[in-house]
Amino acid sequence: MKVIFDTDPGIDDAMALLYLSKLPEVELLGITTVVGNADIATTTRNALFLRREFGISAPVIRGAGETLDGVAKAEPVLVHGQNGLGDIAIPELDETGLQPGAATQFIIDAVRAHPGEVTIIAVGRMTNLALALRQAPDIAGLTKAVIIMGGAFGYEGRGGNITPLAEANIHGDPVAADEIFAAAWPVTVVGLDVTHDIILDNDYLALLADEAGENGDLLRQMCGHYARFYQQVMGLSGVVGHDLLAVTYALHPEWFTVRRGAIAVVRDGLAVGQTAFWPEERGGVHSAWEGRPGQTICVGVDGPNVLEHFRSIVRRP
Ligand code: BDR
Ligand code: CA
Repeated sequence: MKVIFDTDPGIDDAMALLYLSKLPEVELLGITTVVGNADIATTTRNALFLRREFGISAPVIRGAGETLDGVAKAEPVLVHGQNGLGDIAIPELDETGLQPGAATQFIIDAVRAHPGEVTIIAVGRMTNLALALRQAPDIAGLTKAVIIMGGAFGYEGRGGNITPLAEANIHGDPVAADEIFAAAWPVTVVGLDVTHDIILDNDYLALLADEAGENGDLLRQMCGHYARFYQQVMGLSGVVGHDLLAVTYALHPEWFTVRRGAIAVVRDGLAVGQTAFWPEERGGVHSAWEGRPGQTICVGVDGPNVLEHFRSIVRRP
């Protein structure tokens, strides 16, 4: 499976990248970065650091530092720390592994070079993808699949995590997300409706770090920060595995319950970033929604199976 991983590392982004790096069935074409959990210089530096730590050969390509809605947002320091990776010590790095050029062009070139073969897994704001689509609309018909972590559709009573209505990746660039959902390519949304079923509790995290060999310390330190956030804010003894679940979907879609229908994003106002869904089986849609293609949202997941699987992959040498 040829994969482009679009990311804003980010602690759960780092877990997802570790997971990807241990999958021989995945040919990682590139890691494209975007502003989100930290500014673009920091998320790109973090991607280069993780690439080195995880022994990844695919290049990192710098992406968008500003979002399409033109609204600057505060960095989620409480969640991911000042440096995006839970304030672990990160050494000075040169730019080894950084491929010149922009993420947008990289995505366009990679998709065109492998028509019908590339899966894009996007676990940050969708700015790079939207810019690529604007520049080269033909890539919609050439991309095998787009799997995004983001959104919340109210299943299991799940609302937003950055406002009562909006999830952070969508709220971070609602314009980009809306364009992604409106395009005629196959998008699957792995949102809070399912990611909150993937709780890596403190015992699990301790085991994971013990078994992860040379990556164990890094996991332990990053997850320590992440777990303190979840403890303070949600009273949770563990962390939510948001981004890693988008990778699981790429491997095991059969573990998910899905629904098909049109998706739109509220672009401004109090509900900005809210994701709305019109199920296919309801038929005729309001004229404002006409022309929106059917996409897929995840509404259920086999959590225990995912957690078992993730651990089995991370402990691989
Ligand atoms: C998403 O927001 C970011 O903080 C995480 O990395 C994840 O992609 C969860 O809402
Ligand atoms: Ca992320």
